[in-house]
Amino acid sequence: MQLIDGKVTSQEVRKEIAAEVEQIIAAGGKKPHLAAILVGHDGGSESYVAGKMKACEEVGFKSSLIRFEDDVTEEELLNKVDELNNDPDIDGFIVQLPLPKHIDEEKVNANIDPKKDVDGFHPVNVGRMAIGMPAFISATPQGIMTLLSRYNIETSGKNVVVIGRSNIVGRPMSILLSQKGNPGDATVTVAHSRTANLKELCLQADIIVAAIGSPGFVKGDMVKEGAVVIDVGTTRVPATDTKSGWRLKGDVLFDEVAPKCSFITPVPGGVGPMTITSLIINTLKSAKKEIYQ
Ligand code: GUN
Repeated sequence: MQLIDGKVTSQEVRKEIAAEVEQIIAAGGKKPHLAAILVGHDGGSESYVAGKMKACEEVGFKSSLIRFEDDVTEEELLNKVDELNNDPDIDGFIVQLPLPKHIDEEKVNANIDPKKDVDGFHPVNVGRMAIGMPAFISATPQGIMTLLSRYNIETSGKNVVVIGRSNIVGRPMSILLSQKGNPGDATVTVAHSRTANLKELCLQADIIVAAIGSPGFVKGDMVKEGAVVIDVGTTRVPATDTKSGWRLKGDVLFDEVAPKCSFITPVPGGVGPMTITSLIINTLKSAKKEIYQ
């Protein structure tokens, strides 16, 4: 069994990006610039956005944090989105979710210029991804694709079971893994809460992607010998022995499943560390006009 170490891979990718930014600057180019809009003071959002800003600094990007209080109006927020859409110095930006209830997240998302949508949440980017056009791909699916690629995990012709059909993980993963390419060319089954014979399906799987948000859902007797298991679960469960009072639990019962696997991602330290790095990858792609000319 080999652990897929998302921390190490994330650091490798960030070093490569930092070197590329140095080359861009040396050739007279400008620093890639990522902006983040943060509404309110939710602890989780604060720490995610701080991580994103820190990652920018690490790779030599410029970053801008734009804050609004919880009572910001939808109009004010949309005006800021418009301003960032039209600011030639900004290569990409994100609006950290969730937003307060009085603001329509879908509307805000739809107003982001797809060319600057480095989160890959805009319907244009999701649609382009689905038909195999160049697109910004959202952080978690892209992070998983990077891990599969960097660990040389064969996906062509393999049976994959994706557990979960969310717009941000399960569905895009199923599309990306079934597309032509490497990673890709897999035979993908999307399982969800109405799936009848999940255990039998999983026992046929060469690769399982667990993205349901149910701690320890995938048990040892659901996994075949030699399978690759990607655990996307990040549920916070109460803990008495941590400073924060909680710890992250994956969707996979690691102690039972890991001994059967050829490769497995731990939680924490597997898929999670790759997500912010994927945002950095997208921002660089935007600065280099790799997706849209
Ligand atoms: N909230 C939790 N994850 C994300 C993310 O990837 N992007 C944005 N914009 N908000 C989030």
